[in-house]
Amino acid sequence: MKFFVDTADINEIEELAQTGLLDGVTTNPSLIMKSGGDFIETITKICSIVPGDVSAEVVATDFEGMMEEANKLKQIAQNVVIKLPLTWDGLRACKSLTDEGVKVNVTLCFSANQAILAAKAGATYISPFVGRLDDIGQDGLDLISDICQIYHNYPDFETQVLVASIRHPIHLLDSAKMGAHVATLPPKVIKQLFNHPLTDKGLATFLADWEKTKQSIV
Ligand code: E4P
Repeated sequence: MKFFVDTADINEIEELAQTGLLDGVTTNPSLIMKSGGDFIETITKICSIVPGDVSAEVVATDFEGMMEEANKLKQIAQNVVIKLPLTWDGLRACKSLTDEGVKVNVTLCFSANQAILAAKAGATYISPFVGRLDDIGQDGLDLISDICQIYHNYPDFETQVLVASIRHPIHLLDSAKMGAHVATLPPKVIKQLFNHPLTDKGLATFLADWEKTKQSIV
C-alpha cells in the first residue's frame, strides 16, 4: 500500500519524507490556501522533496480551461499528477490527458458509479472521500469496499483506489483490509500510526534495565 501525505505544508512534507515511508503528496486548493504559499512555487518545491507522485489540482471548471491549466502544471516536474474534479468536463479532460500519457488523479468521488466512470476515462487514481461521507451520515468505508470490489471484477481497469479525506487510523486500517492501493493521510494521522502505549512502556522498561547493566554499545 502506498502512503501519500495530504498537505501543502513544506515543513511537514520535509519532516515526513525523512522517514523514507512517503510515496507521494496530494494537494488541493484549500490546502494551498492554508499553506499561504504561491501555488506553482509550492508544487515545484514539493516535487523536489518527494520523488513520487504529487497531485496538483486545476481550478478551471470547463474542459478547455482544465486542459490549459493541466498543460502548465504538467511542465513543473515529471512527477506532477493532474488532479481533476469528477465532473463531465473533468472526466473529458481526464480521458484526453491519460490518452497522451499524463497521470491523472480524479478527485471528489462520492459514489461507486463515479468511480466506474473515472476508470473508463483512464484515471491513474480515483479519490473517494471517506471522511466527508461520514460527515453527512453515510459510511465512507462502504464506498471504498464497493470500489475495490468493482475494480477487482474488471482487471482491465487500471485505476488505483486512492482513499482520501481520511480522518483517523481506523479509516486507513479498514481501507488496507479492503485492498485499497493508496491512502492519502493528513500529517497528524501518519504520526498517530507510529504510536502504541505498549511500545512506549516496553521501551522504557528495556532502557531502564539496560541502564542497570552499566554497558554501552559504542
Ligand atoms: C484528497 O485528495 C483531498 O485533498 C483530501 O483528502 C480532502 O480531505 P478533507 O475532507 O479532510 O478536506
